[in-house]
Amino acid sequence: MNQAAKPKLQHYLQFSDLSADDYAYLFMRAALIKKKFKTYEKHHSLADRTLALIFEKASTRTRVSFEAGMYQMGGSVVHLTTGDSQLGRAEPIEDSAKVISRMVDLVMIRTFGQDKIESFAEHSRVPVINGLTNEFHPCQILADIFTYIEHRGSIQGKTVAWVGDGNNMANTWLQASELLGFKVNVSTPTGYGVDQSIAGIRSSDSYQVFKDPMQACRGADLVTTDVWTSMGYEAENEARRKAFAEWRVDADMMRAAKPDALFMHCLPAHRGEEVDADVIDGPQSVVWDEAENRMHAQKALMEFLLLGRL
Ligand code: CP
Ligand code: NVA
Repeated sequence: MNQAAKPKLQHYLQFSDLSADDYAYLFMRAALIKKKFKTYEKHHSLADRTLALIFEKASTRTRVSFEAGMYQMGGSVVHLTTGDSQLGRAEPIEDSAKVISRMVDLVMIRTFGQDKIESFAEHSRVPVINGLTNEFHPCQILADIFTYIEHRGSIQGKTVAWVGDGNNMANTWLQASELLGFKVNVSTPTGYGVDQSIAGIRSSDSYQVFKDPMQACRGADLVTTDVWTSMGYEAENEARRKAFAEWRVDADMMRAAKPDALFMHCLPAHRGEEVDADVIDGPQSVVWDEAENRMHAQKALMEFLLLGRL
């Protein structure tokens, strides 16, 4: 592990761990890193650094974006899952953190409770990144806002409509709205709403709750949704399918939004459940840019956590 030139230990466990100023830097840096990637220009700022990727839940985008991104920056990756490591055999999280963080420079974890990643970070010598927990998905919102900026410019003062579950994505949108100065219109079925204390926001000033998803979409600059059943909640699948039936983003909801509104979905998506095919595959959808931008935004994030501002 290379201890030289390392800035103060900084984790990325939730969106509010960084400031608005840090985000302005990251969006600018991600744009530069993306441009270099597109022109095959080397960007080896993390040469000889090692990233541990720990997955306790499934992933496609998060794994590929972190793994490819780290190699593209000249570093390397160690991939661990619950099933093929002692994590699945009840080794204490504190012990795992102490051991793993002595051998690598950076750790990304996808797990269940936020408390678990917080315990890991508390005992880690190196920065820890949240690759999704039950409560938050900060890397996704980092990429989503970068994508919004690419297509429409600053998100400040804009309105995001959240249609669906009050889940990890919804919580992270709320944190981002408070920090970056935009509004979220939230519409969820009864019993699946957002909880301000779980979302970790100071006030309700940056969001408004709507019973009717169509009302939430009215005049929005961005309409976004997510699966009805997140990973870890599969036992509730049947109840959720019934409760969420009206919370499917369709062409009428997109028509209620501004004419130039974008549609986003973190993916994986279920066409015909939370979104209609003509919306996710339609002209307002930027879901493939969102997915690609995970890699560019996270490359900027990893570099920032390890090297600070360059
Ligand atoms: N959006 C997202 O995090 O996708 P994966 O579950 O495939 O990593
Ligand atoms: N809310 C979803 C996001 C998947 C990327 C989940 O937690 O399963």
